[in-house]
Amino acid sequence: MAPSQEYNATLAKRLDISARQTIFRIKPDQPVPFVAGQFTVLGLKHSAPRVPEADPEEDADPAKADRLIRRAYSISSGSHEQDFLEFYLALVSDGKLTPRLFQLREGDRLFVGAKATGVFTLDRVPPGQKILLVGTGTGLAPYISMVRTLALGVGCPAVPLAILHGAAHSWDLGYRPELEMISKKCSNFQYAPIISRPEDEAVEWRGRTGRLTQWLTREALTKLCGFAPTPGETHIFLCGNPGLVEEALATFQGWGFDPGTRQEAGNLHVEKYW
Ligand SMILES: Cc1cc2nc3c(=O)[nH]c(=O)nc-3n(C[C@H](O)[C@H](O)[C@H](O)COP(=O)(O)OP(=O)(O)OC[C@H]3O[C@@H](n4cnc5c(N)ncnc54)[C@H](O)[C@@H]3O)c2cc1C
Ligand SMILES: NC(=O)c1ccc[n+]([C@@H]2O[C@H](COP(=O)([O-])OP(=O)(O)OC[C@H]3O[C@@H](n4cnc5c(N)ncnc54)[C@H](OP(=O)(O)O)[C@@H]3O)[C@@H](O)[C@H]2O)c1
Repeated sequence: MAPSQEYNATLAKRLDISARQTIFRIKPDQPVPFVAGQFTVLGLKHSAPRVPEADPEEDADPAKADRLIRRAYSISSGSHEQDFLEFYLALVSDGKLTPRLFQLREGDRLFVGAKATGVFTLDRVPPGQKILLVGTGTGLAPYISMVRTLALGVGCPAVPLAILHGAAHSWDLGYRPELEMISKKCSNFQYAPIISRPEDEAVEWRGRTGRLTQWLTREALTKLCGFAPTPGETHIFLCGNPGLVEEALATFQGWGFDPGTRQEAGNLHVEKYW
């Protein structure tokens, strides 16, 4: 059967982080069950307008006006949150879908996939293992879902858990207040934001700088995570910019971590965004 081309969800809430990043809370007409870390599809028709700041579309085809443009997006809400699905989105100026998503206002309709999918989940981590979640940009989204599903807003993780988030600027560090709040409360939860373009900051950034990949040494990670990531005791997750994913994958494989297969998880879990 051909996939539906009809809009089946409403943008209930929009929280702009910066001109290039936003958080959408979307209410699907029918609930979409998911496991924290999974993704679904968002879609808008080719005829939907683009934000004016995006690049003009040179290959627009009027014959496709009613066809949906669909892309995968990780869900950032907790899996217990039934009323809406949350997404953390970056504007790709020459992209097809994101310039249209960024033009949406609260109350507007869009398409959301009826199912969530993916194996980038904590279900594949044996109990007692320490967890290191590494991501750049909106690659943080699945980790927010994991943290919210573990209810870290009210409790603390049962095992040591660390999030390393690399972004260009401090204003690109979505969800920073929420993660800082949890790390203040929980001694076994570490949050390490790292920015790669400190020279653009209006107010001096006193935190860590450089690309996240520069921080992937045993010594630096032991300090950032509060534990030494070893293959016997730790599961590592990688998500976001493909350059980060490739470099980090090679580093951690060199330390003995194993990506496993889709059928059988290893201790190195990977989600590639593009
Ligand atoms: C499993 C999965 C989960 C994803 N989750 C998210 C998410 O939570 N949030 C999110 O913003 N995106 C996410 N993405 C990326 C998303 O699917 C789209 O690729 C992205 O939003 C760009 O779509 P577009 O139609 O605007 O650009 P396109 O027209 O598809 O792409 C134009 C080009 O831009 C590049 N590109 C694609 N994505 C990005 C990006 N994020 N940053 C820089 N360059 C890019 C690629 O080289 C691509 O060829 C996810 C992708 C996958 C596969
Ligand atoms: N954030 C902005 O202000 C901005 C401005 C203009 C355009 N955009 C566009 O918006 C989209 C999303 O941008 P984004 O900033 O959210 O995500 P992004 O481009 O993936 O960058 C996020 C983080 O990943 C780093 N990174 C990039 N390539 C890497 C690699 N090969 N290895 C390791 N780390 C790498 C970046 O460092 P670097 O800073 O060193 O690249 C940055 O710290 C992209 O298309 C981007 O070009 C963003």
